[in-house]
Amino acid sequence: MRETMKLTQEQQAILDGEKGETLAKVMETLVRYGQLFGAQSMVPVTSQYNHLVTSFGLKALGPVYELMDKLIAEGAASQQKFSADPRPVDKNVPSSFLQNFVFQNFMYTRQDFYEEQLNKLGLMDQDAFTCACYLDQVGNTPREGDILSWSESSAVVYANSVLGARCNRNSGIIDLMGSVVGYVPYFGLLTDEGRRATWIVEVKTTKKPEAQLLGSAIGMKVMEDVPYIVGLDQWLGTLDDAAKTYLKDFGAATASNGAVGLYHVEGITPEAARLGRDLIADGARTYVIDDGELQRVYDSYPVVWKNKNAKPKLCFMGCPHMSLEQLTTWTERVEQGLREAGNKKVVIPTVFTAAPAVIKEFEATPYGERLKRTGVVLSYICPLMYMNNPLSGKMPVITSSNKLRTYTTARYYTDGEILDQITKGGN
Ligand code: F3S
Repeated sequence: MRETMKLTQEQQAILDGEKGETLAKVMETLVRYGQLFGAQSMVPVTSQYNHLVTSFGLKALGPVYELMDKLIAEGAASQQKFSADPRPVDKNVPSSFLQNFVFQNFMYTRQDFYEEQLNKLGLMDQDAFTCACYLDQVGNTPREGDILSWSESSAVVYANSVLGARCNRNSGIIDLMGSVVGYVPYFGLLTDEGRRATWIVEVKTTKKPEAQLLGSAIGMKVMEDVPYIVGLDQWLGTLDDAAKTYLKDFGAATASNGAVGLYHVEGITPEAARLGRDLIADGARTYVIDDGELQRVYDSYPVVWKNKNAKPKLCFMGCPHMSLEQLTTWTERVEQGLREAGNKKVVIPTVFTAAPAVIKEFEATPYGERLKRTGVVLSYICPLMYMNNPLSGKMPVITSSNKLRTYTTARYYTDGEILDQITKGGN
């Protein structure tokens, strides 16, 4: 193993078992993982916190529980506290008796046990279950240049692009392994070369493009490459809360409809603001996006509902979890839509999802009560986990999340269309 990967003395000692058998195995896995991608060294994880993608107590995750138990027994994971992806179940989210039965007895049967393990391993706090862990309210916000060991694709692309941290699109459990050993293999998006753009995306739309649609178009075109996006700054202005929310949703769509782990937005994201077009690699290809291209992408989404004209039974907003800014503006939009339609409450059961800490802060403002009056349910759940079973899969669910559309039977609509449907009805 030494021939291809140059390890420091300390890294070699861990590999040789000086810190216990489990850590040696973890180190060996990371070294092998790095070798697959041509890494020649391991670098220290420098972020204050880690983030784990596995947050659900599925019975099938036996090997994960075993590894966690061993790490706990060896006191191995205490150096870096972490947040984790959202919890899979919330009784506030509308669900049938049968769905609840399935969730409790067949799916997330080991949730309590797993959460207990997470607590022992170093969960930041009980509110740390969210994919949008980088939001101020949650507090797991990496600094520019920090090296991370994360896996959640929507969080990785945000941390890389909007915060300027460095993280590869790891597979699950690798996040935990990198965190407990304190090192990750050095390749890809950790390197300057790997962060250079091989695509120039020219945004030439006549109005601000829908974040989730633009992200989808770019993701499907560039796949795992790094795009440098020009022309979006005119719609975003500066990197304020609204722009960060936009980039959160945009990035999640690039990461799920393609496999983007990093994008640069000219004049907006930190590396692009600093280095400009020097970030573009020689021979970069160009992709032009205009109104027609966005419409083409929208029209290409298959509708997988059995009855394409079914009346929606549920609407999910907030995959990835909504920001405070988003909850506030959406409260106003829903109120306005209801007023126009002469309705008091949303006409389709609607769930907005957000981090527990964001929900707390939001509910402490007058907006919390206002949103409640519209009939919208606020939840910390992961909509994907809710949808991830045959019963929910058969439900006609609508969303403006392109990630949820990609992985489930939920049907995508633009934000404006969603607003019309939930406040005025009809589809
Ligand atoms: Fe977050 Fe679950 Fe969507 S983890 S990005 S809400 S699939």
